[in-house]
Amino acid sequence: MGSLDSNFPENPVSVPEFKPLDPEDFRRQAHQMVDFIADYYKNIESYPVLSQVEPGFLRTRSPGSAPYRPESLETIMNDIKSDILPGMTHWLSPNFFAFFPATVSTASFLGEMLCTAFNAVGFNWQASPAVTELEMVVMDWFAQMLKLPKSFMFSGTGGGVIQGTTSEAILCTLIAARDRALERIGVENIGKLVVYGSDQTHSTYTKACKLAGIVPSNIRSIPTKIDNFFALSPALLKKTIEADVADGLVPLYVCATVGTTSTTAVDPVEAIANVAKDYGLWVHVDAAYGGSACICPEFRQFLNGVDQIDSLSLSPHKWFLSYLDCCCLWVKNPGLLVKALSTNPEYLKNKASESQSVVDYKDWQVGTGRRFKALRLWMIFRSYGVANLQSHIRSDVRMAKMFEGFIKLDPRFEIVVPRRFSLVCFRLNPGGSDPQKTERLNRKLLEWLNSTGRVYMTHTIVGGVYTLRFAVGATLTEERHVTAAWKLIREGTDLLLEEENVFCLEG
Ligand SMILES: Cc1ncc(COP(=O)(O)O)c(C=O)c1O
Repeated sequence: MGSLDSNFPENPVSVPEFKPLDPEDFRRQAHQMVDFIADYYKNIESYPVLSQVEPGFLRTRSPGSAPYRPESLETIMNDIKSDILPGMTHWLSPNFFAFFPATVSTASFLGEMLCTAFNAVGFNWQASPAVTELEMVVMDWFAQMLKLPKSFMFSGTGGGVIQGTTSEAILCTLIAARDRALERIGVENIGKLVVYGSDQTHSTYTKACKLAGIVPSNIRSIPTKIDNFFALSPALLKKTIEADVADGLVPLYVCATVGTTSTTAVDPVEAIANVAKDYGLWVHVDAAYGGSACICPEFRQFLNGVDQIDSLSLSPHKWFLSYLDCCCLWVKNPGLLVKALSTNPEYLKNKASESQSVVDYKDWQVGTGRRFKALRLWMIFRSYGVANLQSHIRSDVRMAKMFEGFIKLDPRFEIVVPRRFSLVCFRLNPGGSDPQKTERLNRKLLEWLNSTGRVYMTHTIVGGVYTLRFAVGATLTEERHVTAAWKLIREGTDLLLEEENVFCLEG
């Protein structure tokens, strides 16, 4: 891969005039790239979904240094085809059923092209007023779609901001909550602050808590049970908080999840907020995946109680057709974020900021520079309308229901946790197997499925049960892909059970 001519000469050699952004070159090459991408999407099913390469595969194919002389786009594209594509796990394949899918769309891609084209670094309003104001518009539009109260909107008393990931959304709100608490108890007492989540809360929460200076032993991970489908129990939360208060600790923040990563469990937001308010906790709802479904009236109930929380985050790069990375964060009290995160160096001072009549998003996030990501959401909202966005969610849910129906009809399998959105959690559990053997069978089945390159699925362990996850929702997935995946699962199961000589109930 790459030119072998990578030795740098001792003395500079003459090269043609260098124009890194020649509009006509750009037009020609960008057309070539768009053709390549369209063909990639068209033929994506021909690639193994999960990359089959070995660690280090690329290093052995790459020259040890960057080329001294320029290389043509044709040469580079050839290397992409021969060396990069084999090392890709194809997240946009219609046969990708792993983790949560990363959904995309033409509208979002076009928005991304514009965002990249402008390359505006919108740290404050003046740096590009449209960057800030469009973000405020789309965050209010989205809030309205989700039927969030006015207290989360710019048209009310709150507001929203686009972060990169849930981790950043949690970190920023946690720091706002932390600083508010430290003002009351003194910075010397930071070691007393306690934060709460469940054993199903995403691991990024623990990371954010550590980054915010919470003592690791003060990060509570409240156990969940299959009996209430792995949701955080408000009663247990209350008990844990009371024990901490009795120990002289200071409850700070609780993270509830709408659609947990393992099984899409939904924590009861309203009941959790009710517990939290008695102790003055900041309540954050992580709806990274499940939140998108709440634009449909039949799912909106999962956000009941949102009027009583402090912040909510949702990642459109998961289920809302936006390319990575895009995490929407709404806060009830933006003033607390700004107080905790604002900086005011001389070189960024300007009249608009000083007038306090504008939003400077640099004070709502970790970094200073920020991209014009609002364009992606704006393009999605305008190009598709709410009607199509709702039918996109419903179509994925319908396909997941279909898959769930297949599982229920085959007595060798069982549903481990009832399906809520478009993730099906199931396992192979043929009669007569002991728990260890069942786990081994499921591990082997998953390994076989992924080795075929025809699907990619992942697993989790909940309540001690090794569980297979079938997450429907890659943008290109159609019913035929779900049916083919099921056929493959049956094929693998037949082979495996025959090999293992397992007695099964199927007639
Ligand atoms: C519920 C939930 N929260 C957080 C995350 C992590 O998101 P990010 O990568 O945006 O930090 C995930 C990822 O799947 C998730 O499912």
